[in-house]
Amino acid sequence: MDALSSVVSRLQMAQHVVIFTGAGVSAESAIPTFRDALTGLWSRYDPSLLASPEGFLSDPDLVWGWYEWRRRKSLLAAPNAAHRSIAALANCLPELTLITQNVDNLHERSGSSPVLRLHGSLHHPRCFNCATPYPLPEGIPDEPDGGRRLPPPRCGRCGGPVRPGVVWFGESLPEPIWKQAEQATDHCDLLFSIGTSSLVWPAAHLPFQAKQNGATVVQVNPNATTLDPVADYNLRGLAGEIMPSIFHSLQSSLAARSAP
Ligand code: APR
Repeated sequence: MDALSSVVSRLQMAQHVVIFTGAGVSAESAIPTFRDALTGLWSRYDPSLLASPEGFLSDPDLVWGWYEWRRRKSLLAAPNAAHRSIAALANCLPELTLITQNVDNLHERSGSSPVLRLHGSLHHPRCFNCATPYPLPEGIPDEPDGGRRLPPPRCGRCGGPVRPGVVWFGESLPEPIWKQAEQATDHCDLLFSIGTSSLVWPAAHLPFQAKQNGATVVQVNPNATTLDPVADYNLRGLAGEIMPSIFHSLQSSLAARSAP
């Protein structure tokens, strides 16, 4: 039996599946990964500067401009077959918990709900000072292709600068969401790690934690990562191809099982 068929037969027996995703699941929607997004105007900046409170305070127009450019790209993008298959899997499994490091909202737009967003979202900015959510204007921001410096809007409550609603370097993950992610990882019997380099902690710890708790770990990535030696299955390939194959094979197996 090949690896993909073994994964599908394991999936049929699973009681609680965790799906953990990174930027690679959105690559086929032409969303640049965090590091790929450092092109053009942004190419000369260190990501830890652009994605940090200190960076924002030292140059709010540069940082807000970069995130507005990324927000625009995510709004112009469409969920791909990987997002759609993950959303569809939730309807044919006893329990599925989706945990993402992505901030692009594409899982939500493909119908997945709830989505545990460990690193926040491009679409939920808040006041830097008082944390009041800031209601973004409807529609797609009209940004030049390469992006530009843009003064952040001001908070309607305290007048402070509005910041992106993402988790920056040096900031903690949202506590309630991280707790839910850890609990799901502790109780799952099968975890998929899809499209992540497994480099950024503590999020990257989740697949290792699942393995330590006896779960089967499946990795979907065209490249090797630090998770390779630990994963039970390393499916080398694109999420937009592998996840639909898994979904369709599972559907056929379930249909065959329920046939009279
Ligand atoms: N299908 C599956 N995986 C893919 C695909 C694809 N089509 N294309 C690329 N990949 C893989 C790459 O091989 C890489 O291992 O996706 C991974 C993307 O890695 P990163 O760019 O490091 O993104 P990610 O792992 O999500 O980063 C984690 O770090 O960059 C910060 O806060 C940011 O949430 C992000 C976190």
